[in-house]
Amino acid sequence: MHPDSSGSGFVVVANRLPVDLERLPDGTTRWKRSPGGLVTALEPVLRNNKGAWVGWAGVPDVELDPIVEDGLELHPVPLSGDEVADYYEGFSNATLWPLYHDVIVRPVYDRQWWQAYVQVNRRFAEYTAKVAAEGATVWVQDYQLQLVPKMLRMLRPDLTIGFFLHIPFPPVELFMQMPWRTEIVEGLLGADLIGFHLPGGAQNFLYLARRLAGQPTSRGNVGVRSKLGVVQVGFRTVRVGAFPISITSAELDEYSRRRDVRERAAKIRAELGNPKTILLGVDRLDYTKGIDIRLAALEELLHDGRIDPTDTVMVQLATPSRERVESYKQMRGDIERQVGRINGEFARVGYPVVHYLHRPIPREELIAFFVAADVMVVTPLR
Ligand code: G6P
Repeated sequence: MHPDSSGSGFVVVANRLPVDLERLPDGTTRWKRSPGGLVTALEPVLRNNKGAWVGWAGVPDVELDPIVEDGLELHPVPLSGDEVADYYEGFSNATLWPLYHDVIVRPVYDRQWWQAYVQVNRRFAEYTAKVAAEGATVWVQDYQLQLVPKMLRMLRPDLTIGFFLHIPFPPVELFMQMPWRTEIVEGLLGADLIGFHLPGGAQNFLYLARRLAGQPTSRGNVGVRSKLGVVQVGFRTVRVGAFPISITSAELDEYSRRRDVRERAAKIRAELGNPKTILLGVDRLDYTKGIDIRLAALEELLHDGRIDPTDTVMVQLATPSRERVESYKQMRGDIERQVGRINGEFARVGYPVVHYLHRPIPREELIAFFVAADVMVVTPLR
């Protein structure tokens, strides 16, 4: 498969495009910003370096033509309803997500989900192979697309391929649970550079690469030797490292100084009854974020009389996420009961102690909340 005559010199490949297609009740559609940390971190990088982004538009069963937005080419990859259920909700978010997050929730292993994962990863590789110019750099993102580096290298050996994992890479003992562990490690080793957030994740991967891909397998010995930071795969050298990602803090800081944002922040404080202390949590509603633990801590502090419910409020902004996955449904119920219990016990009429919003919050409003808060509560379970 060969690129069109031109093609892009820099291509990001991620499960989601930076924007989601939204279907409105009247049948029309519009684009809105996609949820999650990956898009928040990557979008500004891409905005400053022109390139292409290959990803899913967030809704099943639509075939869309590429669009250009702010100089960024967006190439939508279609997913069927079954693929959303098996590849996205299933293998990505009910197998890999809990496994990579220390099995907080029990991962489900399902052969049909795995087949869908292989099939969708192949589609992403094929789309990317068409979009990338000769000799381009392609940067593949996250746990949904771990087979793409190898598949893409087989289609387009001319490309330079990077991979970054936005979530933890698990300890060896946990990773070894997975029936398709060798395929995943070999998939990643198709990249030239593999990045993790933390040195521990990189170490785990280096060990596994030696153990799984370095030994003779039914597909023949791929001859992997690894030392710190480097894996030798036959004649190729794959570099492995930790590259903790950041937000665009300077841009946020600038934004937070705007007059309208400051005014909105003051209004938020007033709407909350001008308490002495505002605690703020902002997360996708996900069991890795430790929202339940944070609420339990608040409840204990209130019980022990160490904080006063008449001068302290907690605001929890929870973006809806993966709502059809069973563990997410359960967690939502648990958290909402917790919020109800705390307010039932400690609130006064018209003055809740916990303000809980389960909906996406526009970015400008979110920044006003940051400005309004006294304490940010960031308590991932890990
Ligand atoms: C995390 C993952 C991303 C994902 C985001 C939103 O940040 O690392 O890959 O896009 O969550 O989750 P969603 O399932 O809605 O894409």
